[in-house]
Amino acid sequence: MKRPRILSGVQPSGKLHLGNYFGAIRQHIALQEEGECFFFIADLHALTTIQDRQALSENVRAVALDYLALGLDPEATAFFRQADIPEVTELAWILSTVTGMGLLERAHSYKDKLARGIAPSVGLFVYPVLMAADILLYKSNLVPVGQDQVQHIEMTRDMAGYFNQTYRKVFPMPEHRLDRAPTVPGTDGKKMSKSYGNTIEIFAEGKALRSAVMGIVTDSTPVEAPKDPEKDNVFALYSLFATSAEKEALAARYRAGGLGYGDVKKLLIEKIDTHFAEAREKRKRLAADPRLVETTLARGAERARSIALETMREVREATGLR
Ligand code: ADP
Ligand code: TRP
Repeated sequence: MKRPRILSGVQPSGKLHLGNYFGAIRQHIALQEEGECFFFIADLHALTTIQDRQALSENVRAVALDYLALGLDPEATAFFRQADIPEVTELAWILSTVTGMGLLERAHSYKDKLARGIAPSVGLFVYPVLMAADILLYKSNLVPVGQDQVQHIEMTRDMAGYFNQTYRKVFPMPEHRLDRAPTVPGTDGKKMSKSYGNTIEIFAEGKALRSAVMGIVTDSTPVEAPKDPEKDNVFALYSLFATSAEKEALAARYRAGGLGYGDVKKLLIEKIDTHFAEAREKRKRLAADPRLVETTLARGAERARSIALETMREVREATGLR
């Protein structure tokens, strides 16, 4: 059987955190075994929020280093920058001409941003069309994403259908694959997110890691008192790194009393240090080579582009543009 094409994008919008790792990156890396993978850094999408050239290029480099250090294999996977494939904006335009306004007006992420008082650009409104173009340009079968992106994949299927009906069948219907990770809580107990300023960064170490972990909000139960592990953020974060036996053992210590939150925070720091030790070393090695990210992304773009050009030949043929 043909291996499925698996594609996903990540916005270069800041330092990656444990929520991103357990919610997305870990699955992305594991999927390299299951199909022909395309992973890209969504810099064109990021322009809807980052309009500072320095910040954008630093973020792109940082995200690329993070993924490579965490196990993305650029030999197995086409790893590239979205803007290196100009055909994606051409396809977005063509898709926009077969898509009704109503579909885009129903997008939750757009409505949420309006509700938060963000003045919408046209780009923010058509964001899902560019995302559909990302997916369809490579005729992707499977798109691993978090829950917040599922509607965008459904809209992609709608757009593929509109195109296929209007012209002829060019695009396969992509399916989403939910990253089946629990929502990772942030240091304040809400969902960990850059926009809440409650993150623990994957590559924080030493003092920075210590101060993020020590800042995790806990209740005021005294040290001697028994505690409920299920109600504690430190325990929830520790569980992500622990085996079930370790989790059980720590839960028993919570219930017995005499365990302070400070001690559990130290255990969590040890877990994080151990889990990411290898990736941290690798990241430092990769970052020391000033050209590595550029050459890796350029090679990935070459692979992606050859497929993009093939699809666009079909699309141009089908529409009568050529
Ligand atoms: P942020 O909320 O920090 O801006 P993004 O929206 O850029 O994060 O998320 C990128 C990916 O990481 C998505 O697939 C999302 O589902 C996942 N993710 C982000 N935060 C969490 C979290 N706290 N728990 C689980 N997954 C998360
Ligand atoms: N919108 C996605 C996010 O914010 C990133 C993204 C852009 C994407 N294009 C994509 C994800 C195509 C999957 C497929 O997380």
